[in-house]
Order: sequence, then C-alpha cells, then structure tokens
Amino acid sequence: MARPCVLGASALPEFLQSPLEKDFEFHDRLHKKDPAAFAEIAPRIRGLIVGGGSPVTKELLDQLPALEVISVFAVGYDKVDVAAAKARGIPVSHTPDVLTDDVADLSMALMFNIARQLPAADRFVRDGNWAQGAFPLQRKVSGARLGIMGLGRIGRAIAKRGEALGMHVGYHSRTRKFDVDYTFHDSLNELATASDFLVIAAYGGPSTEGLVDESVLEALGKKGYLINIARGSIIDEPALLDALEQGRIAGAGLDVFATEPGINERFLSLPNVVLAPHVGSATWQTRQAMAQLAHANLEAHFAGGKLLTPVPES
Ligand code: DGY
Repeated sequence: MARPCVLGASALPEFLQSPLEKDFEFHDRLHKKDPAAFAEIAPRIRGLIVGGGSPVTKELLDQLPALEVISVFAVGYDKVDVAAAKARGIPVSHTPDVLTDDVADLSMALMFNIARQLPAADRFVRDGNWAQGAFPLQRKVSGARLGIMGLGRIGRAIAKRGEALGMHVGYHSRTRKFDVDYTFHDSLNELATASDFLVIAAYGGPSTEGLVDESVLEALGKKGYLINIARGSIIDEPALLDALEQGRIAGAGLDVFATEPGINERFLSLPNVVLAPHVGSATWQTRQAMAQLAHANLEAHFAGGKLLTPVPES
C-alpha cells in the first residue's frame, strides 16, 4: 500500500526527519523549495508536520485539498490557523508534557541569571576586573514573591520549582484552580503588584496578545523582574523596551520575542536583560521525545486512530 504523503512545512531535526522519510512519502518544505513540484504533489498531501515557529495559514491549507491531519512539533500552536483546519475537520496535534520540565527549568535559569547578573559576572571575571574589587551585590531569588501568568502544565511546574526555593507563589489565569494553595489574583495587574518575579507561562495567540502592557509593567514596578518563556506576542514589546530603558522595571529574562529570530535591536544594548534564542525545549532529551510524539500522532491518525495529543478545544 502506498505510504501517506506528508509535507514538512518547516526545517525539522534529522532525528525527526529520518523516521518520517522511512514511514511516509515525505516532502521537506517542497512548497518553499520547488513550487512547481509542490503544485503537482499538493493534491496528494494527507499530512502536514511543522515546528512551532512556522505559520500554517489558511492560504497553505487551501492548497492541500486532501489534507487530513496536522502535527505540530511544539506545545505552542499559535502559528497554525486552527480555526481554518477545524472548519475542514482536520485535527491538529501538538507536543505537551514532554517539554514541561525543560521550559520550567529555563524560566528559573532566566530568573537566576537576571537577578544575580550571571552573564555580567562571567564577563567581569573574564575581563580581569575581579582583582580591582568585588562584583556588585544582586537580588536574592529564594524567598521572593513569584507571580505566574497561566497555571497550565508549565505554569504549575514553575510554581513547584518556586515552592522548592521557598518563594511565595501567586498566579493569574482565566479560571481559578481549586487543587492548589497558591494565591489567585483576579487580574494581571494585581498579580504584578504582588510579584518580585512575574513569569509569563500562558498560551500565545489572539486571546493573550499584548496582555502584558504598560499598566502591568507599572504594577510590577522598579524592583520587579519580568520573565517570558511563553510567546513574545503576549507582551507589548515597545512598552517593555521603554520600561527597561527608563528603569521602570528592574529587568527581564526573555526566551521569546515579538519578532524571531530578528529581535528588536533596542534589547541588545540593555544591561538589565538576559536574552535567550527561544530555547525553552532545546535539549537533546526533550526534542527527541517531542519528535517521537509528533511522529506518533501522524502514525496514530494514519492507522485509523485518534490523535494522542490533540490541541485543546478552545
Ligand atoms: C513550544 O514548544 O511551543 C515552546 O516554544 C518551547 O520552547
């Protein structure tokens, strides 16, 4: 029997692409590499697999009349037009759970790096400045007030890490959670006021766009730090840059940006930010687990079963 035809819509790691080539008639970014060949193959494409950073637009979906399934190789699926897929009855899967620890770990790493100024401390030693005097005192993390926007899987993993550090954990999310003891705040402004470290762990997409605005940053205040491991779209980035430049918040640890990979250059000269290139899940162990899950979702569909990890109903 002919193997199902699958389009890889973005660059994928070798450990995902090789099994895809073995089990499917796999076409790596044919729509970008060879539009004429793509036009011929498009009517036969039944599956699509894509990383979290690449858009899957209605325009692309419209070119794929036989498409049955979309597998997203990421937990965030905000770049996929899920409504357009749903309207055609095309199920969409993503890769939750397997990356939770890594993303939560990175949020703590950013918190420590910005609060204790580790990149600057490293430069201080390398530049030979230590002999001239001690590195300036920095902000303590343990015992501080940790505010989390979004108490899903990743938000909860961050909260646990905060608890282990003796932090006072508060959160804001669409619904109050009754299975945790953390302090619930009705609004993001209220949470920011009550936080030394405000960590953004919410889903991206239109419902959260620009929610961390100037008023939230004002509420976080001169001594507050913002950590974002979710999506750049959640933050009003010009407002954040103004607040950082004017010292209206203490600093930020950022793994995600409004534009990636070409981030706003104003970030580059700021001493009070630590910048990471969207590496929340970027470990061998986790990316391999994500690859297996993204592949298994396609296999489950083509074997006639349900997706293992469909995206939540919105
Ligand atoms: C994802 O998988 O959506 C995250 O961005 C991981 O960093």
